[in-house]
Amino acid sequence: MKYAIVTGASKGLGEAIAKRLINEQMAIVSVSRTENEDLKNLAQEKGTYYRHFSCNLSLEKEVQEVFMEIAHCIFLKEPTEILLFNNAGVIEPIETVGNLDLTPTVRNFKVNVIAPMMITNIFFKEAELSNTKIQVINVTSGAAERPIEGWSVYCSSKAAINMFTQTAALEQMEKNNNNKIIAFSPGIMDTNMQETIRSSSKEAFKNLEQFKDYKEKGMLRPAHVVANALIDLILSGDVESGKVYNVNDLLK
Ligand SMILES: NC(=O)c1ccc[n+]([C@@H]2O[C@H](COP(=O)([O-])OP(=O)(O)OC[C@H]3O[C@@H](n4cnc5c(N)ncnc54)[C@H](OP(=O)(O)O)[C@@H]3O)[C@@H](O)[C@H]2O)c1
Repeated sequence: MKYAIVTGASKGLGEAIAKRLINEQMAIVSVSRTENEDLKNLAQEKGTYYRHFSCNLSLEKEVQEVFMEIAHCIFLKEPTEILLFNNAGVIEPIETVGNLDLTPTVRNFKVNVIAPMMITNIFFKEAELSNTKIQVINVTSGAAERPIEGWSVYCSSKAAINMFTQTAALEQMEKNNNNKIIAFSPGIMDTNMQETIRSSSKEAFKNLEQFKDYKEKGMLRPAHVVANALIDLILSGDVESGKVYNVNDLLK
């Protein structure tokens, strides 16, 4: 059986990914601080395996403990394949360099970079002991490749996850196993993260008006459109390990 682990499944893109996978009859493990009752109900309705693990991804000890437990539970079931969606992310701090506070800066890197690194590490290690194929999907951003004033921390964290993805992919190829790891850039979506962006200050974020316009002009994609493009790619089986995919190319 195939299992999918989705971090940040409580809302936004993660919720949309989890919903699509439940509809595909896949077993789902959801990880976030809050549980999404709709997912639980949908899985019940469809008769699929669903389990939620509460975890604060900015607490590295908690991440290690919770994901060791998740790995233990899943590998016991001798899965044929595990899809790991490192989707959870935070945009804050939105602030210019010189005005950054330490706590949100460190938190950003813990959620956006350290947690996906540690989780991927756990699953690649466990996979070596079994015949399970692992596919890791790290959700990145166009901001990884484009400097945006006020977003130095977020841009840097997403650039780091892209490089982690590319490096880990080379290592897995060298091992000649079936594991794959990709990054996926979802474009601008109508989620809570965009609300946070719109509530930042003009002093901290130069492009504030442009992002308000995106919402007003209906330019933000619904998360389910983006999730469907990603899941169609994954289910096609035609994934190139190490590649940074962009939703705009998938929706052409
Ligand atoms: N929205 C966009 O326009 C956009 C553009 C480019 C890239 N992205 C990327 O897409 C991904 C999904 O973003 P989104 O727009 O769906 O964001 P969102 O609606 O704000 O949802 C973020 C998710 O991450 C989880 N999360 C945040 N901090 C966490 C923590 N400390 N511990 C555990 N879970 C945590 C949240 O769950 P809880 O609050 O329940 O813990 C929530 O489920 C992110 O990686 C983001 O960087 C988004």
